[in-house]
Amino acid sequence: MTQQPHPFPLTLILFGITLLTSLLPLTLGKQPAVNALVAPITKDSCTSLYTIALNSTKQYLIDLTSPFVLGPCPPDYTLVHCTAPICYDANHRSDCPIINAYRPPGFCRCMASMRHPITGACFSGNETVIRIYIASTDGRNPTSLVSADYVNICAPDNALTGLPRGAVGIAGFGRTSLVSLPARLAWDVSIRSNENLVVNPSFYNRFVLCLPSTTNTPGVAFFGANPYYLLPSYLPDISNSLTYTTLLQSPNYSDVAYYLNVKGLAVNGMSVSLPTYELTFDSSGRGGVKLSTTIPYTTMKTSIYKPFIEAYKTATNWIPHKPSVKPFELCFDTRDLGSTRVGYGVPPIDIMLNDGKNWTIFGANSLKDVKANTACLAFVDGGENEIPAITLGGFQMEDSFLLFDVPNSTLGFIPTLRGLQTTCSNFNFTSGV
Ligand SMILES: *[C@@H]1O[C@H](CO)[C@@H](O)[C@H](O)[C@H]1NC(C)=O
Ligand SMILES: *[C@@H]1O[C@H](CO)[C@@H](O)[C@H](O)[C@H]1NC(C)=O
Ligand SMILES: *[C@@H]1O[C@H](CO)[C@@H](O)[C@H](O)[C@H]1NC(C)=O
Ligand SMILES: *[C@@H]1O[C@H](CO)[C@@H](O)[C@H](O)[C@H]1NC(C)=O
Ligand SMILES: *[C@@H]1O[C@H](CO)[C@@H](O)[C@H](O)[C@H]1NC(C)=O
Ligand SMILES: *[C@@H]1O[C@H](CO)[C@@H](O)[C@H](O)[C@H]1NC(C)=O
Repeated sequence: MTQQPHPFPLTLILFGITLLTSLLPLTLGKQPAVNALVAPITKDSCTSLYTIALNSTKQYLIDLTSPFVLGPCPPDYTLVHCTAPICYDANHRSDCPIINAYRPPGFCRCMASMRHPITGACFSGNETVIRIYIASTDGRNPTSLVSADYVNICAPDNALTGLPRGAVGIAGFGRTSLVSLPARLAWDVSIRSNENLVVNPSFYNRFVLCLPSTTNTPGVAFFGANPYYLLPSYLPDISNSLTYTTLLQSPNYSDVAYYLNVKGLAVNGMSVSLPTYELTFDSSGRGGVKLSTTIPYTTMKTSIYKPFIEAYKTATNWIPHKPSVKPFELCFDTRDLGSTRVGYGVPPIDIMLNDGKNWTIFGANSLKDVKANTACLAFVDGGENEIPAITLGGFQMEDSFLLFDVPNSTLGFIPTLRGLQTTCSNFNFTSGV
């Protein structure tokens, strides 16, 4: 006996298909789902600093330690009211005074102030919100442009001093809940998920910085959820290869920087004897190990720098020294150094984290070519009065893959992508779809 197919499932399937096709135009609209946004990062050859392109072409200095974007405002910008949450979040994040503040009567406008990360000068201005276009991505290519806004403090022209040539402002990626560039992009894209956009619920305040080591080809910033792919195309989602660690917050409320939880340093597997209490904060927020993209090289307080450089000299005592090249102290003849996939064959430096993980710095991120046949240990003595014990600088983070999860206060990291035989300059910016 042959069994007749039951008619019921077929009807259900047909009904399901009709339902789906009739709902599709409503839920998806014209836009594909937004999983993440992507933008190129350029390294400036003159300052060795990094900029991100907003609205396709306008360059902003990437600053992990600033709370919001400081840049020019269009002539017809709208003011924000002083009681708005984005005003409160921006206002309580600076030790700089606000100049030309609101005086009643009239619209109580929001102003905020910020310290220029390069010159140290204070700037204040009116707060506004600026709408731009930014590319969404499937993780492999830019797909379509979506509009999103960010919180901007209107900058006077002299705020551009010290920025890379062509940059028009400073993009703060700091630890805020509402006003940093990644925080606001995530918020703005998510609230529009019930309008014309379909947004992945995992699109919240998390971002990837992948700084390029070359000025010729851009690196990449992602905002939102993985996957994150780099060429060659057979490489799996880079987020599968990350090590995770906790990020610390300074007890100083106006400090929005991200700090690593470090217990010590090692050179060539040997622990360096350090005043380790300096690696943690005191009650006012001095000390700690900060991440900064606005200094080119890692800077250490003298009490950390001295034992570190001695340990490095000991570990490399078989390599003859060359005369110092400012700002560096210890230089080598590159013809005496081997070469590996991860740079010159020199002893690795471990930043030993309290949760047992290591951020290991290999030759590509420890030795900087300064002239023909000469490379120097790219760490700088910051003096006795440095506030952080160590500030990890741009050169040490080039071709590192760094995923900042701000609400969860975690960092997913790969100290160098060269171990995976790729670099930050390998995102395929050719538009797909
Ligand atoms: C962003 O780009 C669009 C299209 O190129 C342009 O019309 C708009 O004025 C730009 N917005 C800003 C804030 O630069
Ligand atoms: C802020 O906005 C007010 C009102 O539009 C304007 O009078 C003032 O000049 C602006 N301040 C600055 C520093 O741009
Ligand atoms: C608190 O942080 C701000 C911003 O980073 C800094 O300028 C200030 O010096 C810090 N205060 C102390 C006491 O370290
Ligand atoms: C971290 O580095 C230290 C010093 O080189 C080493 O002793 C330790 O085994 C490393 N830990 C891991 C998890 O690799
Ligand atoms: C949040 O952080 C904890 C450790 O601090 C980690 O175990 C957990 O996986 C993180 N959650 C997400 C969603 O990344
Ligand atoms: C880059 O992406 C484009 C568009 O998807 C594709 O045609 C091209 O083959 C990709 N390039 C490489 C090197 O994979």
